Amino acid sequence: MTGESQTTALQDFTGSFTPGKITVVFGPSGSGKTTLLKATATLLRPTEVRVIYGGKNPYDLPKKELLALRREIGISFQRPVFVSQLTLWENIELVLNSSGKLDDDHRKLTVHLAKRLGIEKLLSKKPHEVSGGELRRASIVMALSKDPSVVILDEPTAYLDEESSKKGSGDP
Ligand SMILES: Nc1ncnc2c1ncn2[C@@H]1O[C@H](COP(=O)(O)OP(=O)(O)O)[C@@H](O)[C@H]1O
Ligand SMILES: [Mg+2]
Repeated sequence: MTGESQTTALQDFTGSFTPGKITVVFGPSGSGKTTLLKATATLLRPTEVRVIYGGKNPYDLPKKELLALRREIGISFQRPVFVSQLTLWENIELVLNSSGKLDDDHRKLTVHLAKRLGIEKLLSKKPHEVSGGELRRASIVMALSKDPSVVILDEPTAYLDEESSKKGSGDP
């Protein structure tokens, strides 16, 4: 490919994530943490390594099964992804809807999580109307609101003070 150079974003990594356990990945900036999490989240096919979920490589699954697996993965990106024209609540509803989980139980869970993270009054605001830390907290609520089997949080405490960090990492 002209004009593009190749980058090895992650090298010599082997790891497993045990159900029911929280695994924390540490490493300096640029060491490949985000790449690892994206590959694990089924969003970035690794070129030379394999990701296995319950014995299956998600990148080999038929599209339907891959989508079903993705419904069970909640992700909060390092740089939160929100639709700028929609409110935080509508953004979260969008994610719930795409996972087939737009129902009262998940709406209730969303409100519970938003209260817990101190952003319930901000849910009617648009992304540009809240601070970076508040958006980060909304992004964590978004990841957890579909009650997923797998939760992937990239730099979950970035932009947050110590108190908010503790609330975000505790049990809902
Ligand atoms: N889309 C990309 N294209 C090319 N190189 C990238 C891309 N994303 C990340 N990298 C590079 O891959 C390496 C690992 O990046 P990243 O996974 O973001 O690290 P971390 O999250 O640990 O800071 C870095 O050298 C980074 O510059
Ligand atoms: Mg990163």
